[in-house]
Amino acid sequence: MDKIVIEGGVPLRGGATVSGAKNAALPVVASALLAEGEHVVRNVPELADVRTMDRLLSAMGCEVARGSGADRHVLSIRVPRSVKPEAPYEMVKTMRASVVVLGPLVARWGRARVSLPGGCAIGARPIDQHLKGLSALGADLSLEHGYVEARALRGRLRGATFVFDGVTVTGTENVMMAAVLAEGTTVLGNCAREPEVVDLAEALVAMGARIRGAGTQEITIEGVERLRPLSHAVIADRIEAGTLLVAGAFPGNDVAVQGCVPAHLEALVEKLRLVGARVEPIPGGLRVVGDGRPRPVDVRTAPFPGFATDMQAQMMALLTLADGSSVLTETVFENRYMHVLELKRLGADITVDGRAAVVKGVPALSGAPVMASDLRASAALVLAGLAASGTTEVHRVYHLDRGYERLEEKLAPLGARLRRTRA
Ligand code: EPZ
Repeated sequence: MDKIVIEGGVPLRGGATVSGAKNAALPVVASALLAEGEHVVRNVPELADVRTMDRLLSAMGCEVARGSGADRHVLSIRVPRSVKPEAPYEMVKTMRASVVVLGPLVARWGRARVSLPGGCAIGARPIDQHLKGLSALGADLSLEHGYVEARALRGRLRGATFVFDGVTVTGTENVMMAAVLAEGTTVLGNCAREPEVVDLAEALVAMGARIRGAGTQEITIEGVERLRPLSHAVIADRIEAGTLLVAGAFPGNDVAVQGCVPAHLEALVEKLRLVGARVEPIPGGLRVVGDGRPRPVDVRTAPFPGFATDMQAQMMALLTLADGSSVLTETVFENRYMHVLELKRLGADITVDGRAAVVKGVPALSGAPVMASDLRASAALVLAGLAASGTTEVHRVYHLDRGYERLEEKLAPLGARLRRTRA
């Protein structure tokens, strides 16, 4: 198991380029199951989670190959005439996003057997909305031995109107993918509006699907008989970009992030300006300059276009050094403060009360060994370690590798002194 050793207190200066988005690549790769043939997905980041999705499709009988060299972000997927429509527990337990194969499998093959994802460090994360949506489209669902057994009652799903009880990103993606091959029209309400949902819809439309309204609360899908193979480049990773932008807002830092989409980062940019960082557009991206000690600011997470829950931990790391107290409120997940105790090991002053965390800024952090608990928590600990004096060791960085493509190789050219070693 690896750890990252950081010699902190060095200002970060320079530019970095973001990779493709994990949370767009996963559903887009899964959507290949909707059509037989040779599919090509570009700008796919080299991440542990993407490799899990590759293995999942391979276990179903698909052939997945990643290019090399200049093509190392290109994935080609050959989907045969028939697949084994099953997602085993061994894979789903390592990556709950595997559940997004459920919709495509039921829609295309009329049946699926997908392991129920277990609990997660950041919350219970049930999939009841996914199942309610599929059942509204005529899927017969049962839970047996920890698996969702799904069957299209008449061999084919049928269009319907369905309103999600709560906004769910992969729920919207799963039911949208199920609806593209259903008989008739589906109208989905209270949908997630995340850029990754829009990117998936664009990929599906490129395959021949008929979708309107992606990016709004209401999505209309007119089912078609069949789709053609996929050819799509996934969007840039707004969470990786956000993590690098927050790095730029630490005192004395100056970071230019290339390849990000400013429209996907407005809620974050607004907060970075409120803490006193200079945020300016540059060709192909954004630049952030940390002018002095951050000002305190209150942050409340929410579904897009609100402040992303996947940026909460990184923003907290920045606010540990603010000149005053900030209140963060996590509204999306019920247990997403696992990083708090670790930040306190670096000298932060944070009090958690239910969904709220009061961060009382301190003048400086000091390095220490810390433990990552989940993907975004690990990124926050790296940012805090870079700002802290002395040495910080971030353990369990396998969490980081799930969602960041070689983060330390992107930070080192900015002057960061960090290295990956065996723990
Ligand atoms: C997606 O997860 C992302 N993952 C998460 O990113 C992200 O944190 C989350 O959306 C919110 O933005 C991927 O896209 C692969 P949700 P998802 O369903 O779809 C509740 C990262 O760090 N809910 O929108 O699983 C749920 O418990 C990861 O990259 C139900 O109650 O999240 C949560 O409280 C972490 N029933 C809320 O809704 C359901 O059926 C939002 O969850 C579904 C969700």
